[in-house]
Amino acid sequence: MRDKEVSYFTYDQELQNLYLDSQENRWNVETATDWSLPIQVGDDEKEALKVIVHHAACNEHLSLQSLGPGLARYIQHYNLSHCISAFTEEEARHAYAFGKYFEKLTDRKLPQLLKPEAEDIAIFKKLNKASLISPGGVALVAVLIETVGCSTFEYLYSKITEPVLSRLLGAILTDEKRHVRICSTAYKLFHNTGSSYEARRNRIILTIARQHLYREERFESKYFKAVDKIGSSREMVDHVKARICSVLSDIDPELGKTAKAVL
Ligand SMILES: [Fe+2]
Ligand SMILES: [Fe+2]
Repeated sequence: MRDKEVSYFTYDQELQNLYLDSQENRWNVETATDWSLPIQVGDDEKEALKVIVHHAACNEHLSLQSLGPGLARYIQHYNLSHCISAFTEEEARHAYAFGKYFEKLTDRKLPQLLKPEAEDIAIFKKLNKASLISPGGVALVAVLIETVGCSTFEYLYSKITEPVLSRLLGAILTDEKRHVRICSTAYKLFHNTGSSYEARRNRIILTIARQHLYREERFESKYFKAVDKIGSSREMVDHVKARICSVLSDIDPELGKTAKAVL
């Protein structure tokens, strides 16, 4: 058995609650922070924020490109279809929020400047390719991408004190925590079969994630060096790994154990 035979029309209360939560917590980029406040940071921090915010804007777009088609397969599911439409809108809002902040910080216009790093494009491509092994693979990659995004923002939120960006990050984090729960719920609903096939497939995907997300050379990248100026990229990576393990343990304790061993 590869993936569970679940009716796409099964009502799922947890997904319905997540959808309602997204509607109750809808926010607006224009009013979520005080855009009239000047950004008062030192030159070093400003340079670091430029790199971090540009990276965040690009990755919000990249995740839209890869999650969109992957999650679209669930669009027939009554509750999940609502969640996915809200989810997609939220990712586009995040990209816009980071883009607007980047423009304020640099006095320059996006999207001409929105160029993802080759390494990030490669990571998404590789993970997408791995996820194509099966629909369950797509769902696991969605869980991973959302957990990496969410825990990265958690770390940055704990370090960034600049008020305009801090407020935006707070709003984005609320959405990202929900995205992790949506993807985890979808995985549990459709793909948590307990089969040996599932275990093998997940191990392959986690191994690819480890190789590409946390290669030692990444610590020399422009992005990780920028993170080092406001905190520690190694501390951030440890935080991300710990969050992945706990999210996957909540889906299935065995998957959590595999993640701990592989990451
Ligand atoms: Fe996002
Ligand atoms: Fe997200």
